[in-house]
Amino acid sequence: MTPEAFSLFGRDCRQRVEASLERLLPAADHLPSNLHQAMRYAALAPGKRVRPLLVYATARALGCPAERLDGVAAAVEMIHAFSLVHDDLPAMDNDDLRRGRPTCHKAFDEATAILAGDALQTQAFQILAQHNGEIDPALRLEMIELLALAAGSRGMAGGQALDMAAENQALDLPQLEIIHIHKTGALIRASVNMACLACGSDAEQRRQLDHYAKCVGLAFQIRDDILDVEGDTEILGKTQGKDLSSNKATYPALLGLDGARGKAQELIDEALQSLAGFDDRADGLRALAGYILKRNS
Ligand code: IPE
Ligand code: IPE
Ligand code: MG
Ligand code: MG
Ligand code: MG
Repeated sequence: MTPEAFSLFGRDCRQRVEASLERLLPAADHLPSNLHQAMRYAALAPGKRVRPLLVYATARALGCPAERLDGVAAAVEMIHAFSLVHDDLPAMDNDDLRRGRPTCHKAFDEATAILAGDALQTQAFQILAQHNGEIDPALRLEMIELLALAAGSRGMAGGQALDMAAENQALDLPQLEIIHIHKTGALIRASVNMACLACGSDAEQRRQLDHYAKCVGLAFQIRDDILDVEGDTEILGKTQGKDLSSNKATYPALLGLDGARGKAQELIDEALQSLAGFDDRADGLRALAGYILKRNS
């Protein structure tokens, strides 16, 4: 896929998911309007929409129409937006800037941000339960289970708990990998696996795509750690240097910048290898892996 084609694909996916979010989120003037405004503020802020892109790119690799995935893409982005709102809270990473704007608790207040996160999370499951596409109810139930596991104590929330506990601690590489695989990798893996369910992939395709997602998920967080060191606050839309000042466990802290870059590259190579059996319809996934390695924001 040429860079231009990938850029068009990305734009199309972002437009799709943003239109779904706009439609599915409660209107800002519905009571309690402060809460609904905060949910919309967090979810509609200009994110990269990488998880929806993974959902749509997986569907494309499997020859499945994008329309089928609109609810899934919106649901996973709502879970992600919730995780960001809570990640930024004073009790967690205590950040003031997100997606180039004041964090949710700064723009509103802490109680509203906590509740907006809660409500974004439950709305994601409501969408999967109700989602009126042609997805069979039994498959929707499987997707709900998958997303619940990925977001919960054995997925993202568990990884976040380990991340908080690791501040000011000396970790080894296996311990750090466990944190990253959970806090970030789980939701990325769920994005691909939910698309496999919705599209009816066979077991072998699912195994390969799951492996792709596992590698890409870890690489995504390694790149996030690298950008915290060498990125630019303006471009990142979040404050650079926070990991160092909070003494977080990160790949650059453990392996150095070059070591972290090398590890991310290895993971992306492995992700690409697991797509070897797919035709050019998987080029969106291939290009996405390259983007995740090189991204600047
Ligand atoms: C940031 O995620 C938090 C991590 C899991 C690393 P993204 O880098 O996907 O943030 P947005 O959605 O583009 O703002
Ligand atoms: C966040 O990791 C992972 C989440 C579950 C949101 P970080 O704390 O590194 O994410 P940023 O750097 O604040 O976006
Ligand atoms: Mg964090
Ligand atoms: Mg953070
Ligand atoms: Mg980070």
